[in-house]
Amino acid sequence: MNKIILKNQHTALQELVENPVFKLISDASAKLNIESYVIGGFVRDFFLNRPCKDIDIVCNGSGIELAEEVAKRIGKNTKVTVFKNFGTAMLNYNDFEVEFVGARKESYQRGSRKPIVEDGTLEDDQNRRDFTINAMALSLQTATYGALIDPFNGIGDLQKKVLKTPLNPDITYSDDPLRMMRAIRFSTQLNFNIDKSSLNSITKNKERIKIVSQERIIDELNKIILAKQPSIGFKLLFDTGLLAIIFPEMDNLKGIEIKYGKGHKDNFYHTIEVLDNIALKTDNLWLRWAAILHDIAKPATKRFDNEVGWTFHGHEDKGARMVPAVFKKLKLPLDNKMKYVQKLVLLHLRPIALVKETVSDSAVRRLLFEAGEDIDDLMTLCSADITSKNPEKVKKYLANFEMVKQKLKEVEEKDQLRNWQPPISGELIMETFNLKPCREIGKIKDAIREAILEGDIENNYEAAYQFMLKKGKELGLEKTNNKQP
Ligand code: CTP
Repeated sequence: MNKIILKNQHTALQELVENPVFKLISDASAKLNIESYVIGGFVRDFFLNRPCKDIDIVCNGSGIELAEEVAKRIGKNTKVTVFKNFGTAMLNYNDFEVEFVGARKESYQRGSRKPIVEDGTLEDDQNRRDFTINAMALSLQTATYGALIDPFNGIGDLQKKVLKTPLNPDITYSDDPLRMMRAIRFSTQLNFNIDKSSLNSITKNKERIKIVSQERIIDELNKIILAKQPSIGFKLLFDTGLLAIIFPEMDNLKGIEIKYGKGHKDNFYHTIEVLDNIALKTDNLWLRWAAILHDIAKPATKRFDNEVGWTFHGHEDKGARMVPAVFKKLKLPLDNKMKYVQKLVLLHLRPIALVKETVSDSAVRRLLFEAGEDIDDLMTLCSADITSKNPEKVKKYLANFEMVKQKLKEVEEKDQLRNWQPPISGELIMETFNLKPCREIGKIKDAIREAILEGDIENNYEAAYQFMLKKGKELGLEKTNNKQP
């Protein structure tokens, strides 16, 4: 395993002393006669050289009073936001968001609705945190300023790249079962291993995830999806059994069936490979979701045909229809993002289909028209979808795919169909033929669109206007307005 390069503690101390935010907190704590420490993610990220703007301060007194004392020192009407139920307070200073909390005996659960009341010592507080690498504290006492308090050897675990719970994992995970997802999320983001006993404990306690709110679960899942190599997380979610509980539709993709010697791809591994491929090209969470869902209806559409073997006819259509229900259940937004994912799932086979046939301009035009401004994302998804164990096959497909891209570019430059707007409006049709709203208007508009997509007329106003007149005549309509706008 690669050794990780950490900042040494001496540098840590130096940098802490230089940061005025810590000096302010240190002075405020001295004034209130309490001890305070920087703790959690900020300390971890500091040693990992990852920039972090969220600072958590734990003190052996009232977090709210400490925040108010710090705000007084900053001046400039610094606002303190108080969360009375949780005994925490937050303020912004320069670029930092600083949260203050009194040390606790009970589990620390940010985002949980459960109020936590019992005061404790720093040691109690560190005991009840999720991972050893998240339980390190830096002293802000004058006498020990910048000293690292690391009772569980979090530094050693950072070096070994391992996620371990400070207490028996069954206790830590049962304190807050979301931590099972957090373990997998950190493992994916940091490329750390989860300690064996911890991993066993997740498998054992997986059902407990059901008591966690869906909002917190999806937050972690999205962080896994946004990591550099999301497949790490999905494999762990699958292996521990969490995936089957939180996202059964995806879990269902797993497996290969063989009939008369004919098998099909394992769609779970294929999907996470596509996800990793797309992660190399984009940080767009929704495009990554489209990769996750592109084959989601394969199990539902799977059939065995004696001649051709396994087929998944219509999986793109059924998959697109499954998207709203999946989004709703997972508590993903039911807005344009959902529509975007749905569109990409529906169209995901289309560019590849163009590879196989001799590409007609009208097929390319139709694809441009249907994908609209999302055509580039669709192409990114499609090229990520080209996976095979045979590198020669992948190479050949990708080369063909480049040809389709080129063709799209040519047709687009010529016809400008990306953000297609009908060149003739319904109002103009009504005016020209002196019509009240009626079905004929829709018929003429559809005919104009079809003629453009088929390449019968050019995509411009003049051609469309003449075509409208011709179509109107065919429908027995009379032109009453001679003025051509
Ligand atoms: N924590 C915990 N159990 C949880 C959530 C948080 O013990 N379920 C503790 C950890 O010590 C963590 C700290 O609270 O480091 C802050 O939590 P949070 O801000 O949610 O996470 P970070 O560790 O800062 O990481 P990130 O910012 O990447 O979410």
